[in-house]
Amino acid sequence: MSPVVGRGGGKLILLGEHAVVHGHMAVAVGVSLGTEVRLHPTDGPTELLQDHPDPRLQEALSRVLPPWGFRVEIRSDLPEGRGMGSSAALAVALVRARAALEGEVLSFAAIHERAFPVERLFHGNPSGLDHAVAALGGALSYRRGEAPVPREMPPVSAVVLDTGRAGNTAEIVAAVAARRPAVDSHLTRLGVLAEEMAERLGDTQALGEALNEAHALLGEIGVSDDELDDLVELARANGSVGAKLSGAGRGGVVLALVPDGPDPLLQAAAARGISAFSCTVPDK
Ligand code: MEV
Repeated sequence: MSPVVGRGGGKLILLGEHAVVHGHMAVAVGVSLGTEVRLHPTDGPTELLQDHPDPRLQEALSRVLPPWGFRVEIRSDLPEGRGMGSSAALAVALVRARAALEGEVLSFAAIHERAFPVERLFHGNPSGLDHAVAALGGALSYRRGEAPVPREMPPVSAVVLDTGRAGNTAEIVAAVAARRPAVDSHLTRLGVLAEEMAERLGDTQALGEALNEAHALLGEIGVSDDELDDLVELARANGSVGAKLSGAGRGGVVLALVPDGPDPLLQAAAARGISAFSCTVPDK
């Protein structure tokens, strides 16, 4: 029998990470990478097909799938824990696979609600942004507790520079929360940048400048580090109109907008042994 399949997409946050946890707006885009869950019927308890070192994965299955009857295959081309939404993509893929099993067609609101308990396992206090993008893709703005708003954005060439280190989102989000109210004006400004740019995502030059300002603000609230700052500098010196850490920070990836093409930056990254890839954002 062929497996039942569900998919969730990866994401990159353009503006507003951390601020979105505290009620401000964020803007994010889907990427073509993602996670697929395949349910293979079996006469035994529901469990992972492959061994995985993270015990939260088995817990995630038990929050969404029936306790009996499936071997669960997870296929993903998203780097794990790097701010590209791998856990949200998994959560949405699991919810969609379960729905496919029941022959249910889920609204966005239902997917979002059902994916939340899985995201909480990985993130503690998720805003809901990551799994909104995992479910919808495209470009969207999001404010906690409200429906995401799809936004117009012509495709732009981007390069993702990977530190190779996974940040602990729950810990980093808690560290920012612990610095409030001292960082409130930074969070407000990050949200304002998202609000301003949500209306003009086609202005790549202005968007790049907003990304640059956001990276500085994220540094000031304590979520950047020397390696991320160095990758941002590398991007700006090699044709990027704007670059910033994307996601929770303290590891993870840098997103660099390169409207004139990715080659100079990809070559500069390769020369320094930095892992990088190009993509077009948004994914659709
Ligand atoms: C993580 O991808 C984005 C954060 O804003 C956390 C969240 O929104 O849940 C840091």
